[in-house]
Amino acid sequence: MDFAGKDKATYVKETFNSIAGHYDLMNSLMSIGMDKRWRRIAVRHVGAKSGMNILDVCCGTGQLSMELGTAVGSEGNVTGLDFSQNMLDVAEHSLEHFPYRDRIRFIQGNAMEIPFPDHSFDGVTVGWGLRNLPDLRQGIREMARVVKPGGKVVSLDMAKPTFPGFKQAYWLYFERLVPLMGKIWAKKSSAYQYLHDSAREFPSQQELVRIFNECGLIKTNYVNLAGGVVAVVIGTKPKN
Ligand SMILES: C[S@@+](CC[C@H](N)C(=O)[O-])C[C@H]1O[C@@H](n2cnc3c(N)ncnc32)[C@H](O)[C@@H]1O
Repeated sequence: MDFAGKDKATYVKETFNSIAGHYDLMNSLMSIGMDKRWRRIAVRHVGAKSGMNILDVCCGTGQLSMELGTAVGSEGNVTGLDFSQNMLDVAEHSLEHFPYRDRIRFIQGNAMEIPFPDHSFDGVTVGWGLRNLPDLRQGIREMARVVKPGGKVVSLDMAKPTFPGFKQAYWLYFERLVPLMGKIWAKKSSAYQYLHDSAREFPSQQELVRIFNECGLIKTNYVNLAGGVVAVVIGTKPKN
């Protein structure tokens, strides 16, 4: 993939800094408003419940962190981690009207070196984040390191639909329409071209399950959403 002569992390950080103001709107448009529902499903799969302490890696504008915040309530805690300050600024702004805003903190940091000790969280999520990392396995190993034994690591991301006809229509939509929408609404077709290219290169949901296993997670599984356009991939940290 072409990162305009930069290393991937620099390119990705600059890209998200540049689209932060339009990110939530573009997400809703591209997913036809389904992104909120998909995030709620990810929250269910990580097992977020009242009083839990959850980490949301690559939290961006904090939409998944706030869904987690609703699940853990006034007794729990959610930490959103992202390296793009502009995305975090949008997250902080959205938090102003959130009922449990005191229970959520957003911090700037690198998913490749999560700044927390081993076994810190009851669950760890990442939404549309893994494919942006320079080393996917290192990112998953870091999430597995900071979750407590018995806790879950959950990724929500683009996946690969397989149903004939639907599969072709989906890639046509993604290849042609998504960059065009990015050009019209966010004035950034290159950023949305990156979105397409990174989704193409990202492992399928079945491959990601295997990678979760390689990274030491057990009871791995995936759940297709919207016909496999998006999938939730789940793994558990062993207890011993
Ligand atoms: C597509 S956005 C996802 C935002 C959010 N999780 C959501 O549900 O909409 C990807 C985010 O990953 C962040 N990111 C990419 N690489 C990162 C890294 N190495 N460390 C921390 N954040 C990273 C980007 O800054 C961006 O905010």
